[in-house]
Amino acid sequence: LTLTPTPSLSNASYSQTVELADIEWDNLGFGLQPTDYMYIMKCPHGGTFSKGELKRFGNIELNPSAGVLNYGQGLFEGLKAYRKEDGNILLFRPEENALRLQMGAERMCMPSPTVDQFVESIKDTVLANKRWVPPTGKGSLYIRPLLMGSGPVLGLAPAPEYTFLIYVSPVGNYFKEGLAPINLIIENELHRATPGGTGSVKTIGNYAAVLKAQSVAKAKGYSDVLYLDCVHKKYLEEVSSCNIFVVKGNNISTPAIKGTILPGITRKSIIDVARSQGFQVEERLVSVDELLDADEVFCTGTAVVVSPVGSVTYLGNRVSYGEGIGAVSQQLYSVLTRLQMGITEDVMNWTVEL
Ligand code: COI
Repeated sequence: LTLTPTPSLSNASYSQTVELADIEWDNLGFGLQPTDYMYIMKCPHGGTFSKGELKRFGNIELNPSAGVLNYGQGLFEGLKAYRKEDGNILLFRPEENALRLQMGAERMCMPSPTVDQFVESIKDTVLANKRWVPPTGKGSLYIRPLLMGSGPVLGLAPAPEYTFLIYVSPVGNYFKEGLAPINLIIENELHRATPGGTGSVKTIGNYAAVLKAQSVAKAKGYSDVLYLDCVHKKYLEEVSSCNIFVVKGNNISTPAIKGTILPGITRKSIIDVARSQGFQVEERLVSVDELLDADEVFCTGTAVVVSPVGSVTYLGNRVSYGEGIGAVSQQLYSVLTRLQMGITEDVMNWTVEL
């Protein structure tokens, strides 16, 4: 038996593959651009999270028996930092992500950072990578916090140690369509979530579970998949990576949060923005029939922001909502993003300036 040293990629070679000067800020998509630093904080067996540290961005080491690798004990979050016209940086509602992570951690039997620890570590990470925050209007710095069972387990049980990690990447539009409408297909066989399951928390397995239907849909030319409830197969739930809204006249409806839908922070913000703009917003059961009869449909999410839906295909029939972005989607997109970028006054008190 010959033992050879484990090959490892040095942090430096990994993080420096593209230099800042080479970035085309006008053509950012939604892909990983390694930046300078990541943040790591650990919670030992039976303890609490204590002060973490910034490290050069790069690979991490995990025991092959880590809870996250074997039993999917992991959660992630997503939030963004925007550059203001004066050069300063704004975070959007980071406490909301901290609270959602705590809710998810409780469901997944994991300890979680306090709200203060979460927000402070986000600030430290963004400031350490501030040169990667795109210029105003060219995108944002996507912040990806992870919480995982990093300690070794073999029998099924919560891991004995946890790691909270944050990395960031400059991003542009999530869908290749940009602000042009996306085309969705309704999935009638596979489901994203079940009552009593984990659909309402941001656990990593929820995203692995939608890859199959998404790949099939993309191969057929659709942008993504819209899921239905698994009991009646009649009510809308959400798209693989975002929430959905249906517009009819002055009414905007979105599926209510009832355990199988992710409580999106952009979803919650758009509900408030729409109400402030005079729309009547309802969170309730929304049927496929209502969707097919809508004036406009749009999706919301941290990554997708507000994405107009151009068509929905259900059981082989395609319903179109028109060519460009609808007036309501455009209005809500503008109000929200102007606030996130600090162009309009933050009357909601949602942004945190660094
Ligand atoms: C986000 O919008 O931040 C998400 O978590 C969706 C992810 C699949 C990109």
